[in-house]
Amino acid sequence: MIVDSLMPDAPEHNPEAVEATADNGIQKIYLKDYTPPSYSVEKVELDIKLFEDHATVDSVLTMKRQHPGDLVLLGQNMELLAISINDEALVEGDYQLDEGQLTVSDAPDDAVVKICVHHQPQKNTELEGLYIAGEGDEVMFVTQCEPEGFRKITYYPDRPDVLSVFTTRLEADKKFPTLLANGDLIESGEVAGDSNRHYAIWHDVSKKPSYLFACVFANLAVLEDSYTTIEGRDVKLQIYAKAYDIDKCHVAMQALKDSMHWDEVNYGRAYDLDRYMIVAVSQFNMGAMENKGLNIFNTSCVLSSPETTTDARSFSVKSIIAHEYFHNWTGNRVTCRDWFQLCLKEGLTVYRDQSFSADHQSPAVQRIDDVSMLRAYQFTEDAGPLSHPPRPSSFVEINNFYTTTVYEKGAEVVRMLANTLGEEYRQGTDTYFERYDGQAVTVEDWLSALSAQGKSVEHFIDWYTQPGTPEVSGHQSFELGEGNVGKLTVTLSQKTRQVEGYEAPKALPIPVATALFDRSSGELIEERLLMLEKETQDFVFDNVSTVEGVEPIVSVLRDFSAPVQMKYQYSEADLAFLLAHETNGFNQWQSAQALVNKILLQNNEPDVYLQAVKKAFLSLVQEDAMLAARILDIPAERELASAVNSDYQPSIMKQKRDQLKANLAQYMLDDWQQVYQQLPIEDYEDTPQARGKRALRNVVLDMALTAGVEEAHDWAYEQYQTARCMTERLGALSAMVNYEHPQKQAVLDDFYQRFNKEALVMDLWFSVQAGDETASIADIAALIERKDFDWGTPNRIRAVVGSFAAQPTKLWTKEGLQTYIAVVKKLDETNPVLASRLLQTLSRWYTLVEPVRTEAKQQLQHLSKQVKSKNVTESLHTILKA
Ligand code: PHE
Ligand code: ZN
Repeated sequence: MIVDSLMPDAPEHNPEAVEATADNGIQKIYLKDYTPPSYSVEKVELDIKLFEDHATVDSVLTMKRQHPGDLVLLGQNMELLAISINDEALVEGDYQLDEGQLTVSDAPDDAVVKICVHHQPQKNTELEGLYIAGEGDEVMFVTQCEPEGFRKITYYPDRPDVLSVFTTRLEADKKFPTLLANGDLIESGEVAGDSNRHYAIWHDVSKKPSYLFACVFANLAVLEDSYTTIEGRDVKLQIYAKAYDIDKCHVAMQALKDSMHWDEVNYGRAYDLDRYMIVAVSQFNMGAMENKGLNIFNTSCVLSSPETTTDARSFSVKSIIAHEYFHNWTGNRVTCRDWFQLCLKEGLTVYRDQSFSADHQSPAVQRIDDVSMLRAYQFTEDAGPLSHPPRPSSFVEINNFYTTTVYEKGAEVVRMLANTLGEEYRQGTDTYFERYDGQAVTVEDWLSALSAQGKSVEHFIDWYTQPGTPEVSGHQSFELGEGNVGKLTVTLSQKTRQVEGYEAPKALPIPVATALFDRSSGELIEERLLMLEKETQDFVFDNVSTVEGVEPIVSVLRDFSAPVQMKYQYSEADLAFLLAHETNGFNQWQSAQALVNKILLQNNEPDVYLQAVKKAFLSLVQEDAMLAARILDIPAERELASAVNSDYQPSIMKQKRDQLKANLAQYMLDDWQQVYQQLPIEDYEDTPQARGKRALRNVVLDMALTAGVEEAHDWAYEQYQTARCMTERLGALSAMVNYEHPQKQAVLDDFYQRFNKEALVMDLWFSVQAGDETASIADIAALIERKDFDWGTPNRIRAVVGSFAAQPTKLWTKEGLQTYIAVVKKLDETNPVLASRLLQTLSRWYTLVEPVRTEAKQQLQHLSKQVKSKNVTESLHTILKA
């Protein structure tokens, strides 16, 4: 039912830009070149010894020939001390070593390969491989192996289709009492002859690819619990964190138990080891990692307490715990054949965590939040030069493909499959697990398992291989017959833009969930799932009976049943009707969004919207406070920008958006006062109702301040002082910062005093200031200059840089770009994965109005001469092609 946002055109091709960065000699890898490994690894024994300034890794790989070809091991950033095959030492000439690849040409069919390497995790700032995290007393060493980090630990066939059984011995100084690896602890003790050192031996019975390997050397406290699976297995659950944080692990522990139960009930999947460990680390590039039996989590995605964590964060902690747990089946037991298949595990697992979350809050709100994310990030990505399908067919650096397209669009595709199959979806997933347990498979395998019950969904493969967001347009006609009964025809058409480098787009199977409403009574007449498979199709509803013979209103794409831009022909009156009468909360919200878009992108007058949204808000306030708060959403500037393909003027867009918000705030002036008073601060409870009230209170406070309600400044101050949890305190703090409260600096200082020992709360403190509308680029640069702006901790960098980039009026200026690009340049040297992710935010530079467009291009071209990493080089190259 999105009528408004225009389908982005293909970015103009600019041969000059391509020339400037073309073929930088970096090797591209193609899906079509896939070949199975010539050797399997039956088992691996690792001995990792950590010393003061280096580490050594001794490994024994029992390898067996499967196909003709060389024995190939991959390794990077380390020194090879020794290698032997079947106890015969290899010397230079027996093997070839170049570009991170060690090749032995005439290796025997049965080869026991022993390798000894040396490296310096103490100097590894990349947060990949074995790396150092934290400092001083809190120093620890952890691993991150997905996607290609294991090759930075030792030489190995580091590819997801080589599965093996790992035994891991860890040895270190006793100042690291916590020694963890995958599987079960089978032995531990003091190192003979050295009373300062100890060791632990772990064995993982399950076969896994190297990207799921993990180990930890640390000094951590542990929270323990247990869970008995439906199969009767007693599982020990452990969450490891700094002693100071251990009391913030209870939310995650409960979420873990809930997830284990949920997967048994909804997918028939039980846990398969005796131990499930989670380790919290502050220095981590992503949210969390599903290593077999030993998840490693960014602290921001595991720690939660009412005093330090907002409701939104805490809710996402639960869904990330679920996500990583669900990977145990979708990713670990059934894994990916190659990295092109990444969305096989990620799309499916995101769909599973979204479904889990929808069972723990208002499902409409869950869907709204998921779709808002998709639109703001994935649609933007797909509209620009970084556009790629959920399953790409080539890449230079796989780390650059952990994208919102692979994850979120991948999840949307699974959702369409599930909705299309209905009851058969569960049988389909059962078949998938039975057939492929213990194997490394492809998207085609997934579709074939789902299709095994009778109804084929194999043609959905095009969703996985074709880039671009389809645009669906639609209209209807009605022929009234006898007795107020008529025939309604809904015509739907689809079109996908041609993305450069891909074949001409095909028509996709697009499930459009639909409901008919009686215009005079407001009642729902009928629901139906329309499957649009051709370019244009008519769908006929015969014998539609109406109360007064008026043409029914069709609500389309309910619950956002497909990831498309919907342009259905609705009048403002139609949308106002749906906002009032739709029984689907998502589509109610969607109608409000469509009305907003008509105002912001098509210059409609706001009157119809204002009346309709006020009415809907007031009727929802009691029933579903969270949904009421969401109904007031005005899309963020970056989302609005994704609909503009040339001459984008951030300040004009912002002005329009601010104006509409001010209009709405003014229009509902009396309501804010009333609603705020009805929402007194209550004891903290973690229920959907309580969270809804807190969310609503913060939104209403913000609206009251926008409307210029004088007392609202006092409400904010009062709320800050009496807050019982972080949602209340941060809501008040942001309000005071954004609306220039006289006590602004005093509360910022107070907040700092209260929480300066809590890194995650200090991230919020940084973020609020970087997001302050009145802050200048110089103010933001000053935050970056601070001593406690820690370049080794991605959370801190994102807190500042993320809030900054969310303000297009600041980012898209000469100074803004200089500040942003300087961060990317610096990180290119220390943390290329993060540098490249941050850079991707600039991908729509070519849509900006001059002179910023040229300024951006020049700065990006200049950057391309200075960067070194493969990650940033590939991203820049693609971005400059626009
Ligand atoms: N596989 C992780 C997840 O989605 C994400 C991740 C990727 C983490 C790469 C670290 C490195 O759960
Ligand atoms: Zn994942």
